[in-house]
Amino acid sequence: MVLPAPVTTTYAAHTENATKVFGSGETYVRALEAVTVGFERGRFSTIMGPSGSGKSTLMHCMAGLDKLSSGSTFVADVDLTSRSEKQLTELRRDRIGFVFQAFNLIPTLTALENITLPMSLARREPDRDWLDAVIAAVGLSDRLKHRPHELSGGQQQRVAVARAMASRPEIIFADEPTGNLDSRSSGEMLAFMRHAVSDLGQTIVMVTHDATAASFSDRVVFLADGCFVNEVVDPSTEKVLSAMHKMGA
Ligand SMILES: Nc1ncnc2c1ncn2[C@@H]1O[C@H](COP(=O)(O)OP(=O)(O)O)[C@@H](O)[C@H]1O
Ligand SMILES: [Mg+2]
Repeated sequence: MVLPAPVTTTYAAHTENATKVFGSGETYVRALEAVTVGFERGRFSTIMGPSGSGKSTLMHCMAGLDKLSSGSTFVADVDLTSRSEKQLTELRRDRIGFVFQAFNLIPTLTALENITLPMSLARREPDRDWLDAVIAAVGLSDRLKHRPHELSGGQQQRVAVARAMASRPEIIFADEPTGNLDSRSSGEMLAFMRHAVSDLGQTIVMVTHDATAASFSDRVVFLADGCFVNEVVDPSTEKVLSAMHKMGA
């Protein structure tokens, strides 16, 4: 007799009817409108959409940095909307990584100290093998003792991603991580993220405006006016451009 496969969550994070409103009266904005979307484990996903379509709001709510107005958002099977502030802080520290467009590195610390800082603050010992693999993947072995101002923008941003990866989070959210980079640095950064997913099993969700950047990922989810409107699986630059064109972008 063939038993049914056990029910497992294949999503590292997902939302159900995620709705977010800001302000009231004349300043009222519906930033997210009943978004139901999931991001699979061990995949590199991209969120695209016009400026103001809700991409950052979706990421912030999914990462527990902001709260939904209604609906739910989960990391694995943990519903963030039912957690206390203290529990959310722990969840962000232990299970979620975040990379912003601005690198947010500490200028007085070396690259290596920046990478391990969150773990030191949490008084946790990094998994040495994992950390070595992450550091090797960043490709900065000869610059680990350099401070951020001695690194290029691309190198700084790779340090920021390595910092997000150091605790081996279940998912990393990266909001326009290549937004401040020239095309060469951007390419190195995307190759690094691709490697982190394909070879180290990391799960990454990234926001980008760039169809070529999106082509490094496994799947692109499109938002428009706060709604999940389209997706492209195994994106090529051409497929992404064509989907953007259909959306009127
Ligand atoms: N803190 C906030 N207060 C008020 N409105 C906001 C806030 N954050 C975002 N918004 C509004 O929500 C909508 C979605 O914004 P955002 O998620 O930043 O879009 P995107 O990242 O796709 O550019 C926009 O209309 C924006 O002005
Ligand atoms: Mg944004």
